[in-house]
Amino acid sequence: MLYALLNALHVLAIVVWVGGMVFAHFFLRPAVAALPPPQRLPLMQAVLGRFFAAVLAASAVTLATGLWMIGRVAKQVVQGGGSFSMPPSWTLMTALGVLMILIFGHIRFVLYKRLSAAVAASDWTRGAEQLAALRRWVGANLAIGVVVILVAVLKLPG
Ligand code: HEM
Repeated sequence: MLYALLNALHVLAIVVWVGGMVFAHFFLRPAVAALPPPQRLPLMQAVLGRFFAAVLAASAVTLATGLWMIGRVAKQVVQGGGSFSMPPSWTLMTALGVLMILIFGHIRFVLYKRLSAAVAASDWTRGAEQLAALRRWVGANLAIGVVVILVAVLKLPG
């Protein structure tokens, strides 16, 4: 039961994180692209600030529940007298999940900080540069996230 709850929490956190990236990348960004920078950049800065606060929590929940599930299975196997070896799909998910968290750290604590500073200074040229860089990294994290979901659900590489 606890395992199922951890798995549910894990998947809900992923829904917030990956679903939010899909929304930002494919729906919000193209819709605001037509706005002039003095309107577009403060709007995106405000939206992304709220989204990144949720991603900070979602990524912590993803990591904690993922490691907790691995720990529970390992403990059960060892207590049953067996030796635990991670399924390849779990190893791949963990490695790519940690990579996603590191990329998110760069997005939130480097690029978003620079975007906020540019918006505060009404420096629209620099703000647009930072937002473009941020968009590329969000796109990369979204692609990795989709791969991880396929790895998890299809139990790849076997
Ligand atoms: C951060 C490190 C992560 C760890 C340690 C981890 C670990 C795990 C574990 C142990 C399970 C249970 C699998 C099972 O019972 O077969 C699981 C399920 C799952 N994980 Fe992760 N995970 C991590 C990150 C991610 C990320 C970043 C994503 C997606 C972007 C993801 C997507 C999923 C999905 C969709 C499931 C449900 C699979 C199913 O029930 O069919 N995980 N994860």
